Amino acid sequence: MGSSHVEDKPDSFPDLKQNEAIRQANDDAATHQQFNAWQQPGPAAFDFRSDTMTTPTASMLAAITNTTLLDDVVLEDPTTNNLESYIADISGHEAALLVMSGTMGNQVALRTHLTQPPHSVLCDIRGHVYNYEAGGVSSLSNAMIIPVRPSNSHHLTLEDIQAHAIISSDVHACPTRVISLENTLDGMIMPLSEIKRIATFAREHGLKLHLDGARIWEAVAATDGSSLPDFCSHFDSVSMCFSKGLGAPIGSIIVGSKAFIAHARRIRKMIGGGTRQAGVISAAARVAVEEGFGRGPSGEGGKLRACHIKARRVAEMWESKGGKLAKPTETNMVWLDVSREGVSNAEFVQFAANEGLKAFSGRLVVHYQITDEAVERLGRVMDAVLKKGRENGPSNGEVGGNTNGERYGSKRQRIG
Ligand SMILES: Cc1ncc(COP(=O)(O)O)c(C=O)c1O
Repeated sequence: MGSSHVEDKPDSFPDLKQNEAIRQANDDAATHQQFNAWQQPGPAAFDFRSDTMTTPTASMLAAITNTTLLDDVVLEDPTTNNLESYIADISGHEAALLVMSGTMGNQVALRTHLTQPPHSVLCDIRGHVYNYEAGGVSSLSNAMIIPVRPSNSHHLTLEDIQAHAIISSDVHACPTRVISLENTLDGMIMPLSEIKRIATFAREHGLKLHLDGARIWEAVAATDGSSLPDFCSHFDSVSMCFSKGLGAPIGSIIVGSKAFIAHARRIRKMIGGGTRQAGVISAAARVAVEEGFGRGPSGEGGKLRACHIKARRVAEMWESKGGKLAKPTETNMVWLDVSREGVSNAEFVQFAANEGLKAFSGRLVVHYQITDEAVERLGRVMDAVLKKGRENGPSNGEVGGNTNGERYGSKRQRIG
């Protein structure tokens, strides 16, 4: 009766008929459409904080819908088993193990290598395992960390490592058992030539070599003529993330020898990382690798190379406006030296927010979902920063400490 009342008097509710929001809501209700968080472009389109913010795609959802749902703790899930053998294969290792996160990958790998204290892990002072894993190396592996500052400010060299590794039978010393490298680190690529030198040294001294390769995909995609095995095969273990620039919702993987992975599986179980119907994770991860990194061993057909071009565009835009970079742009990270302009991280974040952009610091991560429009808005953010810089006059580059999200000591800060 109510509806016939409305139909009888078509002009009774003219406002309702013209109101776009109500019309849309009614249309959606009529077709049972709902807001779908998987739609693209998602919120990541304007989010420069990290590539961890990438929104999983419809093809990942389709893969999840079609995945197998068997139990991975008892090794029965074909999608997970296939993913593990696929990644082992394309990285030049014997075996692989799905883990939930990059942190879990690093911690499980290090715990697997480290058997009997006293022992130490040598890593870059800027490294994730040292700064951003909640002290896991000390609590899970009872290991001392030796953080080393690279003398070239770019990557650790063999000489840096030789100067700090503890190779000694002195009972006072805490012997180094693992060298843990990171590639890319802050978006910068550790060159293959240096990796080979360090690997030779590690083998000579019976040390294990681990790689935090959360973003190793980026290094391969950015290095002409290189392949994933080139960057991975020198290591005893590599942890690689699906949930950063590749865009999967969850997951990382560790690769190594069969014996290493068999023990790592036990450590993963110990910390609660054994999952049952893991196909929901591995199905999306497989899509992330094939569509994000690409199907070839060098990232052919993937999305990362275009991100690197866009990142260079961002860097060039900043420099052409008169800004300086804090670090070179080699992959998907652009480090604007905002402290040189006398602008704090908090101010920079606010300038970005004024343009509807999310930023965390002068470190901008250009992932494949960043739109051209976001880059255009970023240009206006840069203008605002540089204008403030001119008003501020010359700066000593120290606004509230070491900015750009790189803080050592008591103020370490990063979100991915
Ligand atoms: C280099 C590096 N390694 C490891 C991780 C840890 O990954 P997750 O956040 O999945 O634990 C991150 C996170 O951003 C990272 O940047």
